[in-house]
Amino acid sequence: MLIRPRRRRITKQMRDLVHETSIDLTDLVYPIFVIEGKNIKEMVPSMPNIFRYSVDMLKQALDEVVELGIGAVLYFGIPACKDETGSGAYSDSGIVQQAIRLTKQWYPDLLVIADICLCEYTSHGHCGTLEGGKVNNDKTLPLLAKAALSCAKAGADIVAPSDMMDGRVLAIRNILDENGYQNTLIMSYAVKYSSAFYGPFRDAAGSAPAFGDRKSYQMDFRNRKEALVEVQLDIEEGADIIMVKPALAYLDIVKSVSDTFCIPIAAYNVSGEYSMVKAAAENGWLDEKAAVLESITAMKRAGAKIIITYHALDVAKWIKQ
Ligand code: PBG
Repeated sequence: MLIRPRRRRITKQMRDLVHETSIDLTDLVYPIFVIEGKNIKEMVPSMPNIFRYSVDMLKQALDEVVELGIGAVLYFGIPACKDETGSGAYSDSGIVQQAIRLTKQWYPDLLVIADICLCEYTSHGHCGTLEGGKVNNDKTLPLLAKAALSCAKAGADIVAPSDMMDGRVLAIRNILDENGYQNTLIMSYAVKYSSAFYGPFRDAAGSAPAFGDRKSYQMDFRNRKEALVEVQLDIEEGADIIMVKPALAYLDIVKSVSDTFCIPIAAYNVSGEYSMVKAAAENGWLDEKAAVLESITAMKRAGAKIIITYHALDVAKWIKQ
């Protein structure tokens, strides 16, 4: 036999020499839920070890993030009150805006990403403003743009629209540029599928739709080519980074996007993916560290550079070991 692939697997040192894909600390983004109120650090029941923090408790979470060498956080807000138009999302004193300002005071170099959407802030839980019981795309755009601008003003380095309205990247790019925020990036949730894997997140953020579902704006998971259309449009509208979400069941999509476009790709390892692994690990059914590192390496192998994951703190500890 001339060719024996096993020769290259013979020792750990040899495997390390030829390995193709690594996870780096700079790949990781840690999502954080901030909630209105005081002295709150409460665990999300369906997401073991993930907490909602009031801003006075946030510093301790960020200390750990920075200590571990993670370079970026992604904020989600849970406001005290919700209304029809989701005004908490674009209030300069909104919960995420407060968290961004404090974060930039404490850790100016930590990259802050603000999720831009209305669903955590609307009384009906939909990602846009309603008209006749339906989400009105074009009336939602200015509200999303205002939310992005107020997060940029608060100090966000990156705004990340997750609503799936058509044309929102352009609306956001325009308002940012008109107000002197040319250097604020847009990380677009360009390819966001309507997925059962967001369940625990909606628990955490109290953002489940009060009626119906999100299928009229989030993508149909039966489609792959449509993902390329979404990415193309968002690049043309000025997106700097493209996200595919969820990650695990969508690695074919990550690969297609990566093969087709020259732009950094983020994969969002979503709440349901996190909770499945945690549940299995807590039951002793899976080796948590091995399963998580394997999954995250697979996301990178498929073509993602940035990995948004609730496992980020653990992954950082594991890579350092
Ligand atoms: C807001 C938003 C959601 C997630 C990120 N931004 C929820 C949804 O679309 O219902 C999901 C993240 C996760 O499941 O971890 N639109």
